[in-house]
Amino acid sequence: MALPLIQVKNLSFEYAVNQTKIPVLHDISFEVKPGEYVVIIGHNGSGKSTLSKHLNGILTPVSGDVVVNGWNTKEWSSMREIRQKVGMVFQHPDNQIVATIVEDDVAFGLENLEIPPSEMKERIDFALASVGMNEFRNRPPHYLSGGQKQRVAIAGVLAMKPDCLVLDEATSMLDTHGRNEILKVVRKLNDEGMAIISVTHHMSEAAQASRVIVIEKGRIIMDGTPREIFQQEEELKRLHLDIPVASQMARKVQSHHHDFNGTLIHNDEIVKEVVRLSQREVPVI
Ligand SMILES: Nc1ncnc2c1ncn2[C@@H]1O[C@H](COP(=O)(O)OP(=O)(O)OP(=O)(O)O)[C@@H](O)[C@H]1O
Ligand SMILES: [Mg+2]
Repeated sequence: MALPLIQVKNLSFEYAVNQTKIPVLHDISFEVKPGEYVVIIGHNGSGKSTLSKHLNGILTPVSGDVVVNGWNTKEWSSMREIRQKVGMVFQHPDNQIVATIVEDDVAFGLENLEIPPSEMKERIDFALASVGMNEFRNRPPHYLSGGQKQRVAIAGVLAMKPDCLVLDEATSMLDTHGRNEILKVVRKLNDEGMAIISVTHHMSEAAQASRVIVIEKGRIIMDGTPREIFQQEEELKRLHLDIPVASQMARKVQSHHHDFNGTLIHNDEIVKEVVRLSQREVPVI
């Protein structure tokens, strides 16, 4: 069994606003293993962003602990190592770009790490190639599309060689094309072994994860594979959450044709199931 990369242990958190304490996260515990692809879903205001910010020490627990590769995020002396291990990409592409040239932006995080220039160049080349942005390296980020800017933001994180990438609704400001570009990059990084933790409202993205965590009012209320989670349509409806279109379709067809597999969650599975049933001697559909 691989050791956990991130351990969240009985994490509780509250914001303090004008001396008033606003409790947001309550006794959250889970672990993320190397190479996992975890999607976090939940209604607006359920605490997803607050939780994400705990995963690399941007916020620290009021009680409980977050431990990254053995380092507790409450130990300031380990913050540099923690931030290198777990990189974050946020919702707004514009807020994450700091330099006036793409490759300088990717280099930005490396500058404090005292890396020799030759290795720095190597890392920038690798990061830009990973997100398919090499040909834009000398351009001002300003002229890039939203999806391209997010790819540059991801490259900035990749240059640090993290073991885990946390995305907090990183595709929500993008059109379908931009979103697909990012998802392709994320899937490739995961295939190559990087752990991914992604907060999203897109259930088709949740379906491609290895695990889905559902949060309600600062508590984890479901944690399982996408197939397990999306079978609980009624409970998700109660939480104002959708299920992927493929799941909706599979469940609908199954309600009319009991032989149809109602647990499908991917479009290509639906196609295969239709082919399977249509090849039977007495087709049911
Ligand atoms: N800086 C802050 N100060 C005070 N309260 C905050 C702060 N940030 C968030 N909150 C409150 O904490 C709760 C959880 O917010 P959070 O942003 O973590 O939720 P979320 O699940 O990410 O929501 P969304 O889906 O809208 O992004 C909300 O009630 C929010 O109003
Ligand atoms: Mg949020």
